[in-house]
Amino acid sequence: MNKKVMKEWRYRELKTLLKNFERNPVRNHSMFPSLRAYSSNRPAPPQPSSSTSSPVRVNHYADPSMPLYPPPNAMTHAYPTTQTHTPPNPPTPNTQIRAPVHLAANNSNDQRVRPNSTGLRAVAELKGDSFKAVFPFKLFNPMQSLCFDVAYKSDSNLVVSAPTGSGKTCVMELAIVRLISKPDGQHAKIVYVAPTKALCSERVADWKNKFRMLGITCGELTGDTDSANVREVQQSNIIVTTPEKWDSMTRRWRDYKQLMELVQLILIDEVHLLNEPRRGAVLEVIVSRMRTVNAECAMMNPNRQNKKALRILAISATAPNIDDIAVWLKEADTGRRAECKVFGEEFRPVQLVKHVFGYPARMNTNDFQFDKVLDYRLGEVISRFSEGKPALVFCSTRKSVESAAAQLVSDSMPCTIGRDHPYIRSQLHQMELQELSQMVSDKKLAEYLPHGIAIHYGSLTQQDRALVESKFISGHLSIVCATSTLSVGVNLPAHLVIIKGTQQYRDTGYAEYSELDVMQMMGRAGRPQFDDSGVVVIMTTVDKAKGYENMVSGKEIIESSLHENLIEHLNAEVCLGTIRNVELCIEWLKSTFLNVRMSKNPTRYKDPRDKQAASLDSMCMKDLNLLAQAQLIQQQDEGMTVSPTDFGRVMAKYYVRFETARDIIAISKGPSVKKLLECLSNSIEFSELKYRNDKTYLNTLNKVVKYPISGKLKTVGERVNLLIQCCLGSVKFTEQKLVGMLSLDTNVIMKHAERLSKFMFEVCQLKRDFQATEVALEISNSIHAKAWESNGHHLKQIESIGPVHAKALFDAGVRTVQDFLQKSPEHIEGILNKGRLTGNKLMEAARSLAQIKLEVTECELYGKNDIEYYVHISLLNPTTAKLVGKKGPLNAYFFAGSESDNLLLEFRKYSLRDIQAGQKLTIKVKKLSAMYKLKFVVVVEDYGLLPYLNC
Ligand SMILES: Nc1ncnc2c1ncn2[C@@H]1O[C@H](COP(=O)(O)OP(=O)(O)OP(=O)(O)O)[C@@H](O)[C@H]1O
Ligand SMILES: [Mg+2]
Repeated sequence: MNKKVMKEWRYRELKTLLKNFERNPVRNHSMFPSLRAYSSNRPAPPQPSSSTSSPVRVNHYADPSMPLYPPPNAMTHAYPTTQTHTPPNPPTPNTQIRAPVHLAANNSNDQRVRPNSTGLRAVAELKGDSFKAVFPFKLFNPMQSLCFDVAYKSDSNLVVSAPTGSGKTCVMELAIVRLISKPDGQHAKIVYVAPTKALCSERVADWKNKFRMLGITCGELTGDTDSANVREVQQSNIIVTTPEKWDSMTRRWRDYKQLMELVQLILIDEVHLLNEPRRGAVLEVIVSRMRTVNAECAMMNPNRQNKKALRILAISATAPNIDDIAVWLKEADTGRRAECKVFGEEFRPVQLVKHVFGYPARMNTNDFQFDKVLDYRLGEVISRFSEGKPALVFCSTRKSVESAAAQLVSDSMPCTIGRDHPYIRSQLHQMELQELSQMVSDKKLAEYLPHGIAIHYGSLTQQDRALVESKFISGHLSIVCATSTLSVGVNLPAHLVIIKGTQQYRDTGYAEYSELDVMQMMGRAGRPQFDDSGVVVIMTTVDKAKGYENMVSGKEIIESSLHENLIEHLNAEVCLGTIRNVELCIEWLKSTFLNVRMSKNPTRYKDPRDKQAASLDSMCMKDLNLLAQAQLIQQQDEGMTVSPTDFGRVMAKYYVRFETARDIIAISKGPSVKKLLECLSNSIEFSELKYRNDKTYLNTLNKVVKYPISGKLKTVGERVNLLIQCCLGSVKFTEQKLVGMLSLDTNVIMKHAERLSKFMFEVCQLKRDFQATEVALEISNSIHAKAWESNGHHLKQIESIGPVHAKALFDAGVRTVQDFLQKSPEHIEGILNKGRLTGNKLMEAARSLAQIKLEVTECELYGKNDIEYYVHISLLNPTTAKLVGKKGPLNAYFFAGSESDNLLLEFRKYSLRDIQAGQKLTIKVKKLSAMYKLKFVVVVEDYGLLPYLNC
């Protein structure tokens, strides 16, 4: 079964299970408990003055005794009852009970609407029967009803802040339905932006279904979309994308002008993520850009001038300054701030109680030891908050999952089934669990299941995962310890969600969970079908507790992060032509969320370089000057007018940080491979990598790489350099403890290194530095192939040949693709010790690599001191070469230069298609001496270096 089918199958199975459970629920509350506000036998939700509307409870442990909460109400349910049990000798954290924090009481500027302040709107109010099918219910819930008029009956920009699970998607759907029901609405484009690929996929799956019958198509445009599908997505009415992908699309918006002209509605989900470094800045930038694009399109096309400006609808989690977002998203034509609807916790269909527990991390305690401390506390937390209902324990790594499960198993060992066992309610239940454990293939999972505990992480087989998920939903399993990846994309509701530890490994080393991560995990707490409440417990260190407390109680102010990367974004806008002078630059800055926040909190926004407080004007001038000094832009009229340079354009194309671009441009002429590699490794992009205590081991690796680092490894740059070289030389990490860690680091490094090396290559070419161009191309192609082009691993470029086979071939004297093609399939099978037909397959793969033929004829012009070179570039294998790769048409570079004076004379980029048709060119040069020689190089982008020709 392929992955996709498996995923669909799992999804369908889960849905059926949920449906069955819905039909025959143990305790079936209304899907929308907030509607209870309208029923007479229930108290109306508390008003702000009563200060009890928020169930947020945040606890810091700072006192030796655990807080004593009243025991949970006894409830009838189908789940095994959890009894209180004490883990053996758990380390005792300092504990203290903090008074519950009530949002309403703390929010002096409370604009929230109450659930019972208006009547419910009916789906029947929508014009046109076909549109009603989008909403699979009769009545909009209170939150949706309160947004109905703005979303469906007006074109105003709108910001909605409401709790998780309150049905916010529906508000966006109302805006979509309004647009597509307009006379020309079927041609309009709608862009939906969500922060992660997983959220995008979830949205596309849902909307494809919902809108299909209306003839409205929906396409997904993320980093995973391959070039073949991009065209199809562009045809879709609704484009579902991430900020980063939309940024890269709109950086070339003139290439997609037809599409951009049609965009009339932008939907931003989880807009509070403006808070997140980098991603937030990208979100700000794309909104500003879309507005500029919209205005420019309107100017260029007078027929569009009377049309309404772009409509923006943003959805946010709870935050105290939603108003700032409304100010930022003001309407372009009227300047009026966006409509703003803020809904409190009482609009949550399932009430959520949140606890943040801070545990002291002793001096010298490492992450692993602290994780163990939390394991000891888990059983206690489960018994206090789960009420015997399903609990999900989120852990940062697979190891942490296993350690949590093992500890829970060990804690439950002394308990007696049927009496005080926390996870097994009867002998029958135990038998079921044992049967289950025989059905799974993962050894660890099979070990824990008989104790009523399951684990869930990426490396489980699809079958094991599906089984764990279905048994959890059906109530056979009450505890699942999972990696945080489970929080995305799998609808696995639990009564209790525990976030065990808040550090996670990311691209840049261990870092705290982002707000989105926490929200995703919290979103699993509370099951609308069975519960009217859910509980979330975040277990972290004492010093982090306050931050999480603010995060989960919606008290964290949404700030801008644009100032951190402003210089890179300014460069991109100069390249786009949005910023042509200082005045436009300041105007552009004024349209950002940064401007809104800077006016309220100026001290926060310091220049990232000199840490001085900054104003918009000073930021603008400082950054433009820095860009000009680094030759990334040009300044005229005493710096008042600016224009892009080729260096600036490549920086924007490859998303390179300013400092990296500046340093690479400044490299002196004729650098060696070692020097370029050093410069690449010192890029600021790697600077956030954390150093771990593995220097001794890395020093050993330093002895086997091609360009060893002199002296002891000191800097992050040196470590990066070494790891890149280990990868290119296929050096194996042998120190077991470090293998996983280092290969994880190497993967992240190589991803950045590939992009940066391409940038480096283009810069060297722009500098007309022949030697550097050649060297940079060698580095760039080697990094792409993950092998030095001079070692045998070059053959890894042939599909299905990995490092082991490449080495075997190398040892047998087959070192290049050309050598390979000269052998017979049987010979190859013999070397690789492979069965029949493998050789043919590999031959076919090798033949699909384009081989370029380069012919140069030299002609000395009679009576002149000039030489003409007639160049003919064609394919040696025009019928078998693959001309299109995964990311689109493949290209090749041709360049010519003189080695004696290190001058690049000619540089061209051709698509392989053009080369297949044959390319001719003439290069005319002055003959300076009898020794004057030109060198010609042609290389397929991303392949190892192929033909060289010296004339
Ligand atoms: N009026 C309604 N009647 C019945 N079900 C509804 C209604 N509105 C939404 N739902 C259902 O409620 C669930 C939650 O909706 P939705 O995903 O839009 O919430 P959300 O506020 O976007 O949550 P999150 O913050 O997790 O993204 C969905 O399954 C949706 O189909
Ligand atoms: Mg949502």
